Amino acid sequence: MSEPWTKHDMDFLGGRRLRRTRRAGWSRAMVRETVLTPADLIWPLFVIEGHNEKTQIRTMPGVERLSIDLCVEAARAARDAGIPALALFPNTPDHLRSENGAEAYNPDNLMCRALSAIKSAVPEIGLIADVALDEYSSDGQDGLVRDGEILNDETVEVMIKSALAQSRAGADIIAPSDMMDGRVAAIRTALDDTGFEQTQIMAYAAKYASFYYGPFREAVGTGSRLKGDKRTYQMDYANSDEALREIEQDIAEGADSIMVKPGMPYLDIVRRAKDNFNIPIYAYQVSGEYAMIEFAAAAGAINRQGAILESLYAFKRAGANGVLTYFALEVARELGR
Ligand code: PBG
Repeated sequence: MSEPWTKHDMDFLGGRRLRRTRRAGWSRAMVRETVLTPADLIWPLFVIEGHNEKTQIRTMPGVERLSIDLCVEAARAARDAGIPALALFPNTPDHLRSENGAEAYNPDNLMCRALSAIKSAVPEIGLIADVALDEYSSDGQDGLVRDGEILNDETVEVMIKSALAQSRAGADIIAPSDMMDGRVAAIRTALDDTGFEQTQIMAYAAKYASFYYGPFREAVGTGSRLKGDKRTYQMDYANSDEALREIEQDIAEGADSIMVKPGMPYLDIVRRAKDNFNIPIYAYQVSGEYAMIEFAAAAGAINRQGAILESLYAFKRAGANGVLTYFALEVARELGR
């Protein structure tokens, strides 16, 4: 009688051994299905007023808000590392935040000054401008609020003005992150009517009402203002078919590319988007995902570098064309070595 682990009992394999290709490094390299390059990485930056100014973000260790001059330096470093584009987010000074969010379309606001300073100093890098009211309004909501209701069409009017100001300042890609209905078509038409037919739109098409945005809200100074939640416009995390409807709609309205956000908890959405639509798809590894990796690594629970690379490869494997990630510069440099 033979023991259960003898070779004889392995006959069912019929000679097929999947471990064969995993045995040696050269072979693993040959059969690797996805690649990660610096061109896959988009780097979000938080902008503040001042000169040679940087401030820490308690819940995002390792990420700093930067004054415009330091953003320009960061842009040079990013370009040199092969990063194709930056995504900018302003921390608007408190006294400029208001109920109507008018600072969003002030052509001289922090965001516009940052866009034009970077565009003139580092013209080779793409600039993605976030369009939403939360960074300019006194209540931290992405839209105008009346009697507790987030107004859709009125908000879109403000977003058009904001997108035009940003385009004039040098934005290459307008990225509406507010989840109002109809904003992609409205912004597209306004851009075309004002000579910005080459300005792209990257739609935050499937953006979920997520708890993973916490550290971002500290970074841009909206966290303590926000009352309630964003569930009347951002999506319910229980839904997936609805994400496809959102994406379909934004493509029909003229989006050049679409985004899924957050990232890692929503890789199923990235994959469904990839299988259903023929358009560049970006995933946003958001602030809470960044924080989870950093804090877990700091506690000695995971290998930091390994976990970062694994997370970014997961996005590529799921079908993303690129990833917005706070790890972008570090990883791009590492990949280039
Ligand atoms: C809002 C916006 C948010 C993020 C990007 N744009 C936060 C929100 O919707 O509340 C989150 C990004 C991150 O968490 O890293 N305009």
